[in-house]
Amino acid sequence: MKVDLKNRIALVTGGASGIGRSIALALAENGALVAVNDLNSDEETCSIIRKSGGTAKFYRADISKVESVEAMIAAVESEMGPIDIMVNNAGVNVGKDRGPVHEFSDAAWHRIISVDLDGVFYCSRAASTSMIKRRKGTIINIGSVFGVIPARLQCAFTAAKAGMLNFTRSHALEIGQYGIRVNGVAPGSILTEGTRDLFYNADNKASAEGLMEHIPLGKPGETDDIAAAVLYLASDDAKYVTGHVLVVDGGWTAGYSRDW
Ligand SMILES: NC(=O)c1ccc[n+]([C@@H]2O[C@H](COP(=O)([O-])OP(=O)(O)OC[C@H]3O[C@@H](n4cnc5c(N)ncnc54)[C@H](O)[C@@H]3O)[C@@H](O)[C@H]2O)c1
Repeated sequence: MKVDLKNRIALVTGGASGIGRSIALALAENGALVAVNDLNSDEETCSIIRKSGGTAKFYRADISKVESVEAMIAAVESEMGPIDIMVNNAGVNVGKDRGPVHEFSDAAWHRIISVDLDGVFYCSRAASTSMIKRRKGTIINIGSVFGVIPARLQCAFTAAKAGMLNFTRSHALEIGQYGIRVNGVAPGSILTEGTRDLFYNADNKASAEGLMEHIPLGKPGETDDIAAAVLYLASDDAKYVTGHVLVVDGGWTAGYSRDW
C-alpha cells in the first residue's frame, strides 16, 4: 500500500517488535520520519529503516509512567519536530496470568491496565496538547478484537482494550474541532514472535486450529495487515474518518461462523 506521508513526524510506541515494528517500517517506507519507542533499548527497527534510506530515532520510555511519557514526547518534539502521527501500539497481554475474575490477582490487573489503558491516555494527552496548538495531527490506537467482544480468562486485557477503544471515540469527539482525527485499529489474531510462542506452536496445534474454525478467512493475520490499516488512517485518504475503529480480524467478530 502506498500513501504520501512525506516528512511527517510519526511516533510509534512499542515499535521494537511485532506489529509496532511493521507499523514503523510501513510509515517510514511511505515517507514519514519515525520516532520508535520501546521499553528496552532496541535499535533494530531504526536500523532497518536507516538501511533503506529512511529516518528513525529510538526513544526508550515506559509508557505506563506518566513522567517517562511526557519526557519522551518533549524529546521527540524538540529533536525531530512536532508529532503529526501518534500510534499507540505498545501493549501487554495476559500471558501466564490467565484466570477467572475471582482468581485474578491485583498485580496482573494493574500490570495490564497500566500499559494498555493508562499508557494510551498518557501518550494521547501529551501528543494532543501540541497537535491542538498546531491544529494538525492524527492519533491511531491499536486495540484488539477483545475490546470489541469479550473473552474469558483475561478480564484486565478485555477491560483495558474496551476502555481504550471507547477512549479513542471520546477523544475524537473532543478534538475534531481542531482538525485532529483519532481512530482505532482492532487486530484479531496476528502472527508475531509472541503469538507464535503462545498459540501457534506444535503444543497448541489443536487450540490454534480451534480458533481458526471461528475465523471466516481461516487463518491468522500478518503484521502488515495491521500496518496497512494504520497507513490508511494516517493518510489524507482518511481525512473524513475519525472516531472509527477499524477491525482487522479475518471476520472473527462479524458473527457466529458455524452452521446451526
Ligand atoms: N499479536 C496479536 O495477535 C494482537 C492481537 C490483538 C491486539 N494486539 C495488540 O497489538 C499491539 C502490539 O502487539 P504485538 O503482538 O506486536 O506485541 P509484541 O509483544 O510483539 O510488541 C509489543 C511491544 O510493546 C513493548 N512494550 C510493552 N510494554 C511497554 C511499555 N510499558 N512501554 C513501552 N513499550 C512497551 C514491548 O517491549 C514490545 O516491543 C498491542 O497493543 C496488542 O495488544 C496484538
